[in-house]
Amino acid sequence: MDVCSLFNFTLVTVVIVVVLLILLVSRSLQWPVNVPPGPTGYPIIGCLHQLRNKNILELCRELRQRYGDVYSFRIGPNLTVVISGVEALKEAFIKQADDFSDRTDGYIQDVLFQKKGVSTSEEHWKHTRSFALSTLRSFGFGKRSLESRIQEEITAYLEILEKQNGEPYNMKELTVVAVSNIICNIMFGNRFEYTDEKFKRLTSLFAEGFRLSSVAGAVQIFPVLRFLPGDLFSMKRLTEIIFDIKDFVADQIQEHRNTLEEENPRDFIDAFLVQQRKHEAGDPLFDDMNITITIVNIFPAGTDTTATMIRWAILYLIHNKSIQDKLRQEIMKVVGTSRLPSLANKPDMPYYGAFITEVFRVGNISPLSVPHGARKDIHFRGMVIPKGSTIIPNLDSVMSDPELFEDPDKFLPERFLGPDGKLNGKERNVMAFSLGRRVCMGESLARMELFLFMTSLIQRFEFLPESQDKLPSLDGIVDFLRNPKDFSCRVVKLQ
Ligand code: HEM
Repeated sequence: MDVCSLFNFTLVTVVIVVVLLILLVSRSLQWPVNVPPGPTGYPIIGCLHQLRNKNILELCRELRQRYGDVYSFRIGPNLTVVISGVEALKEAFIKQADDFSDRTDGYIQDVLFQKKGVSTSEEHWKHTRSFALSTLRSFGFGKRSLESRIQEEITAYLEILEKQNGEPYNMKELTVVAVSNIICNIMFGNRFEYTDEKFKRLTSLFAEGFRLSSVAGAVQIFPVLRFLPGDLFSMKRLTEIIFDIKDFVADQIQEHRNTLEEENPRDFIDAFLVQQRKHEAGDPLFDDMNITITIVNIFPAGTDTTATMIRWAILYLIHNKSIQDKLRQEIMKVVGTSRLPSLANKPDMPYYGAFITEVFRVGNISPLSVPHGARKDIHFRGMVIPKGSTIIPNLDSVMSDPELFEDPDKFLPERFLGPDGKLNGKERNVMAFSLGRRVCMGESLARMELFLFMTSLIQRFEFLPESQDKLPSLDGIVDFLRNPKDFSCRVVKLQ
């Protein structure tokens, strides 16, 4: 580095530190004295170092033991408040839903997403969400009409698995593309071949985007960091990814506009375009940017989540041969082998219900949900959560609570079954899709996909480890989602 660049670098760093100091001092002076308790941390960074050095879930468990169900810590100038345990979560996100249903502001929402779509807090969020949900329902969410399209996808998926001839195989990419095709079908009215390189690249961008959102979190908190030379916090890469996905969606919208028949909407985009024509030009609810960002929100959210859950389910099948056999017996009794399982069979399969609930609990793919935000000072349990705070629904605190689930580290589907062999109601505590007004928009689709994929897989194949002495790891890697480590397994066709 020459003297001139060294001087520029030092100058930029000094300016950033001064700006951070000013921000920090002015923000914390505005906080009331009775903010939720928590560790003090260091000047400027607060507890950022702890987040970098520790497993975030372990840290949250430790802090809950020390400070109780509602605690806070500072990251730079921002206060983060964590809400844990079934009672506190329900009190906040259901009873006080008016206060707790907003999202945080930040560079990603404000600049990259231009405050549009379903994941922001702007005034049209509610209308966009309810329009999107009712449109998704009319294209089959939770309905039989979508079932046959999912089954077609599953048939193609099973064929590829069969071609592996029971050799060790990593199902990750195939599963992501298959699940993504279902969202594509609803959104764009078409599916892509598993060999389509453009589509494979797009779905790999979703996973990379999810992973980087947690690294780029530092820029959300300190937007000024994005001006640092290089791409230390991956915000430049994340921006590229979001623009790539936006471009793909924008092309789809243009193609749909060219072939739209208003009286015969084919999919989600058509339904949006029909409304766009009916409303005044410039209506923010139906402008192109709102359609694009809504799809950019839903598309990855509906792909990596369900695909990750399928991989957790397979891992637990490999580790628990007797549970795998029991599930297969139930499928054979209710469905047999001559056809694929259908949604109508679901009520007759309580063991599947117990199994998938246990996978939701231990897979725990969204342990800290998606951050919410305080748009004003919120009074909660005698404390004040200051305006601008980030609020975390700590779903992990419920999944691993020994008061709710005895021996929480054990994989035991039976814990959800009563003496009559039916679900016993404890499944309602497994809040994998969060709760309140922001509860996952895709819950019914995800449940439908998981049932059809998992039962068809277990009906056709036995899942075995790569070799008997090499069971895959059950450890999770937590970034935005909690993912299993990559693994291969043998998918053996049943006779
Ligand atoms: C097993 C699968 C899934 C899990 C565990 C899951 C979990 C979650 C969680 C925890 C949230 C955050 C809720 C909150 O802010 O408190 C969320 C939000 C969301 N999910 Fe899912 N999800 C899954 C599948 C899907 C699918 C299939 C779709 C798409 C169709 C989807 C679309 C969304 C959207 C759009 C939001 C944001 C909602 C809003 O901000 O109003 N998810 N999901």
